[in-house]
Amino acid sequence: MLKIQVTDKKITDQKTSCYAFLISEGAATPSDLKAFQKLFGIDIGQYLLKHEFTGKLLETFSLPVFLKNKMHHVIIVGLGKPGKDKKIDIEQYRRAVAHLYKQVAAHKAASFALTVPSARLFGVDVQDLGQQTAIATEMAAYHFDEYITAKDRKAYVVKDLTLCVSSKEKTALQRGVKDGDIIAQAVNKARRWINLPPVKLTPVELADKARAIAKKTGLKFTALNEKQIIAKGMGGLAAVGAGSDQESTMVILEYHTKKKNAPTIAFVGKGITFDSGGLSLKPAKSMETMKEDMSGAAAVITTMEALAQLKPDVNVIGVAPLAENLPSGKATKPGDIITFYNGKTAEVKNTDAEGRLILADALSYTAKQFKPDAMIDIATLTGACAYALGPFFTGLMSQDDELVSELEDAAERTGDRVWRLPLHDDYKLAVKSNVADLCNIGSPKYMAGTITAAHFLKAFVGDTPWAHLDIAGTAFDVPDMPYFRTGATGTGVRLLIDLAMNW
Ligand code: BES
Ligand code: MG
Ligand code: ZN
Repeated sequence: MLKIQVTDKKITDQKTSCYAFLISEGAATPSDLKAFQKLFGIDIGQYLLKHEFTGKLLETFSLPVFLKNKMHHVIIVGLGKPGKDKKIDIEQYRRAVAHLYKQVAAHKAASFALTVPSARLFGVDVQDLGQQTAIATEMAAYHFDEYITAKDRKAYVVKDLTLCVSSKEKTALQRGVKDGDIIAQAVNKARRWINLPPVKLTPVELADKARAIAKKTGLKFTALNEKQIIAKGMGGLAAVGAGSDQESTMVILEYHTKKKNAPTIAFVGKGITFDSGGLSLKPAKSMETMKEDMSGAAAVITTMEALAQLKPDVNVIGVAPLAENLPSGKATKPGDIITFYNGKTAEVKNTDAEGRLILADALSYTAKQFKPDAMIDIATLTGACAYALGPFFTGLMSQDDELVSELEDAAERTGDRVWRLPLHDDYKLAVKSNVADLCNIGSPKYMAGTITAAHFLKAFVGDTPWAHLDIAGTAFDVPDMPYFRTGATGTGVRLLIDLAMNW
């Protein structure tokens, strides 16, 4: 694991295997690089000129240097151009440092040192910059290789990063790094759970992980077993897990702030540990990555673990309905009608539209039991969302403009991006059934499968301010991002933590 230290000594005083520099496009040679050149008598500027290095985002330049007969590396990464406001987008910084980490690892350097650029350059404060530095580098360092046995195929792990900063800014940066470390560990834990093969992470096993987290951090933990789920009238969750030999369960984690009269927010995450589609079986290709269908639940549980340590001034409830969606002689059939926790009924026309069935129970249960001031669900809900927005934006649907702007602000700060789709009432009739209150798939005339799915969920939130996040496109296999790799991204974790911390 990457350990990050903060020092007020100069980069030229560091003992490290790699000296790293970030250069923005069109800027003069940074002073730390100048000092480095002077001390070691190397004219890196000449090399940069020769190689026409301009500082474009992710542009990379490296050379070995011999100091007292020992080899070190110098790695320089471009930060890109400032915008019209003369500031560099903090997302460019996140990508540049993440890319830098991967370059250091590619050079098999055990440690690297970096002078932290001025926070003003990005329009953030020093603590934020420390937080983003830790998050981006630790996310870049994560790799799911625990099932690879060939040693030469394991990811090279960089052990130490030293951040050099002025003595004035040291404490603030350190504070940011400490919080960033908590957030990054939550993101990477979610990624690991999602990446685990579905045989290794069943609903009960995921619930056990949540229980262990609660025990360690002091969160309140409740789990409903299948019998209790049925007894409470949660017909949706019961129906989805019916075909599987694995028990369904519903996990509830509670964080209570010491602050008096604090508001309460609730996060609800879809936890299908494997989605075969059920009797409405998916084609083989579409099933290949369906271990990712518990990404919402993973995001909620790891967010709760981070919040237990970061201690926001708001009560937070995390709810995760967990089940496995498989066909069998006991499986729910197209044509079945189920009754949910709030008494509403739905005709199941397609057993592959199962996410909304488990969320319907979880949302109505959370609204009734906790009466939260706001409720946000997060789910790999519709393939349509991945087609609409691709892998870079999570679909956001809500009729509450204030909640939308809170989420958009959190997305802007964290880089965990969202894009609003219109949850207009005109789409509502799409999920009406002739034989029950609702139908679990939208009528084809309305198309817009992501929005009609959200309308199904809306029938279960009552008057609670609510927003829905569809992460079907963003949860898994996002290309080109320096802080991701193939597999799970941990999308939603940074977003939800930030939302709670700034509530
Ligand atoms: N888990 C899928 C959605 C999904 C698709 C997530 C691709 C990630 C990547 C969900 O349960 C599902 O199967 N949805 C159906 C709904 C349809 C039957 C109305 C879909 O999107 O096809
Ligand atoms: Mg079962
Ligand atoms: Zn499905």
